[in-house]
Amino acid sequence: MRLVRFHAHGGPEVLQVEEAEVPAPGPGQLLLRAEAIGLNFADTKIRAGADGIFARPLPGSPTGDVVGVVDAVGPDVTSFSVGDRVAALVAEGAYADFVLADAAWAAVVPPGLDAASATALPMLAPVALRLLRMGRLTAGETVLVQSAAGGIGHLAVQLAKLSDAKVVGVVGSATKADFVRSLGADDVVTTDGEWPTGVDLVADAVGGSTLLRGIEALAPLGRAVMYGAASGEIASVNVRSLFGLRTITGFGLFAWRQSRPEEARDDVAEATRLIVGGELRVAQHASFSLTEAAQAHRVMDERANLGRVLLIP
Ligand SMILES: NC(=O)c1ccc[n+]([C@@H]2O[C@H](COP(=O)([O-])OP(=O)(O)OC[C@H]3O[C@@H](n4cnc5c(N)ncnc54)[C@H](OP(=O)(O)O)[C@@H]3O)[C@@H](O)[C@H]2O)c1
Repeated sequence: MRLVRFHAHGGPEVLQVEEAEVPAPGPGQLLLRAEAIGLNFADTKIRAGADGIFARPLPGSPTGDVVGVVDAVGPDVTSFSVGDRVAALVAEGAYADFVLADAAWAAVVPPGLDAASATALPMLAPVALRLLRMGRLTAGETVLVQSAAGGIGHLAVQLAKLSDAKVVGVVGSATKADFVRSLGADDVVTTDGEWPTGVDLVADAVGGSTLLRGIEALAPLGRAVMYGAASGEIASVNVRSLFGLRTITGFGLFAWRQSRPEEARDDVAEATRLIVGGELRVAQHASFSLTEAAQAHRVMDERANLGRVLLIP
């Protein structure tokens, strides 16, 4: 089978397609024949050799949100059978014809759901859903969604509108504004432009100075939910900025799954219902073949994606 790996950190060109043995599923694992692979931003940083939270050893093979058909199951797996169609966040070796997935967190793909949309089931949509809940967003409130055109961001915009909130999307470039408006955002601002003040919730995965600016934009009793650091900058928050009745909450999917497994599963089920029902739309920016993995990463590196970038083996 084909497997994309990298033996040096660097630009997208370090991604190489290699021949590899089809792996055998161990305890708790599924072997999936991949139909579609959703790319995640963190892999561009890991590939590039960024340090801190993105540091990983070489050789590397990206993660990904893989939709596929179960080809074999590990010795103790009873929850899925050969032939089932599932979606899973694959921790390594995700850009491949066959991947190993954790059966415990594989999401059932309902019949008829297209593979590209289903790539949002294991991570993008549940994260978007839960970070708004962590932020206790209610109808009529104003939420500032950072990276509003991105994989998670474009779903957070739609989910916030489903909660009848007022949504202001933040984008790195004005060329993304029409896309974010098409998702229902009431307003769109650029990262370096004027932001509203008195907002009730900020959803931020950029970190650094963007997070600090978002905290300043909060109204009394406003909340910032921090779920990533795309800028690579880890902000130091001056706690005095919180005396104005502001709260910062961190969110990480793995921590959530570990501490609240039932609610984490409910999130996947709810995200599935919303996507199947057409209330939540997963935008596909572009699809590439496995051999074009470098091109796909280039799109992400250029911050050009409107929604999801996919590999189709
Ligand atoms: N906490 C969790 O459980 C969890 C799970 C998955 C992902 N994440 C995080 O969520 C974020 C979104 O992930 P995604 O896969 O959906 O990615 P994405 O939003 O499609 O891509 C990242 C976006 O971040 C924005 N950005 C702002 N500053 C940036 C910078 N200095 N360098 C690069 N990009 C910058 C860019 O949009 P603009 O150009 O429009 O600013 C870029 O398109 C990432 O930070 C990721 O690590 C967190």
